[in-house]
Amino acid sequence: MQADLERVLIPRDAIARRVRELAEEIAATYGTDAAGLVMVPVLSGSLIFVADLMRCLPFKMRIAVLTVSSYRGATTSGGEARLVADLNTDIAGRHVLIVDDILDTGRTLRVVRQRLAALKPASLRICVLLRKPGKAPSDVQADFAGFDIEDAFVVGYGLDYNDQYRNWPEIGVLRPELYQ
Ligand code: XMP
Repeated sequence: MQADLERVLIPRDAIARRVRELAEEIAATYGTDAAGLVMVPVLSGSLIFVADLMRCLPFKMRIAVLTVSSYRGATTSGGEARLVADLNTDIAGRHVLIVDDILDTGRTLRVVRQRLAALKPASLRICVLLRKPGKAPSDVQADFAGFDIEDAFVVGYGLDYNDQYRNWPEIGVLRPELYQ
């Protein structure tokens, strides 16, 4: 797997450190509202991130998963995003935190946010591990973001290319010849 990466962008220990900091930011922001929080990870990309993040949060919470499929070319994000599996939990009146791997063009999170807003949560915030600055429109912004990264196609720590590399523990840039 390592041979398929052009370079490591974010090493394992830096991810772990930042995830712990994000958890502190989230806990401080919610304060007493944290009790009863519902985290909504957007599958599959946020699998590993949410697993690490939730174990750093020191309060009771629920998880309600959502699956979105984005129709994009091999590494070109930003195709049509479509909900393929809806929530299994009632979020009306609850504080909800959407968790995703990356905010790129914002199309995916726009669809997710619209769907969840229609279910009348008490509040709706977005947490992403990665963000490509300047790409998402101003109406789709993250409340919590782990790292701002360059506009390169990245894999690892949950992020895939053709459903592979999710289990790579670091975040790296894929060798262009593998997808061009
Ligand atoms: P958008 O463009 O809708 O992208 O904000 C969100 C979804 O697209 C995938 N995505 C990526 N996956 N490396 C990946 O492995 C990337 O650089 C990348 N950019 C976008 C991802 O599933 C994300 O949730």
